[in-house]
Amino acid sequence: MIYPIVAYGDPVLKKVAQDIKKGEIDLKQLASDMFETMYEAGGVGLAGPQIGKSLRIFVADGSPLEKEIQGDFKKVFINPIIVEESEEEWGYEEGCLSIPGIRREIMRPNKLVIQYFDENWKEYKEEYTGIKARIIQHEYDHIEGILFTDHLTSLQKQLIKGKLVEISKGKVDADYRMKFPLKK
Ligand code: NI
Repeated sequence: MIYPIVAYGDPVLKKVAQDIKKGEIDLKQLASDMFETMYEAGGVGLAGPQIGKSLRIFVADGSPLEKEIQGDFKKVFINPIIVEESEEEWGYEEGCLSIPGIRREIMRPNKLVIQYFDENWKEYKEEYTGIKARIIQHEYDHIEGILFTDHLTSLQKQLIKGKLVEISKGKVDADYRMKFPLKK
């Protein structure tokens, strides 16, 4: 099932999402729906709040970035905890399916260790670097109620403020189905 993607301005994107309890929901179904929704929209990551579900789950598939990513990176992260992050940071231009048409360079740690469950409730503790770490950090932010635009300086925020309001109102070109909080 393909969900509409929640656009900037919806309160669900600003909420800290809830932990998932084992056996509470059909995780295989949810993960499969999230992948389907993400592929349809051409994204490399998608978090629960972006489909209106305030749950600590996100999916990622780095295949569209295969030139920059070594090896396969298709993963489901449930109740993730970033347990370590490097001091060293690097910049990379990020976008977000909830904020179409805006891309900005964001600084983030280049290495992390994350603990999480997959859709079969198998637990992992893994280290990621580079783009994979970047996708994880962006999606992890989503379940903490943080958007990439929250990392911008106040001047940068000021400059895109008008565009963000337009997005909330649905005045934006996205080639996938979205749900706009201020659309009349
Ligand atoms: Ni995003």
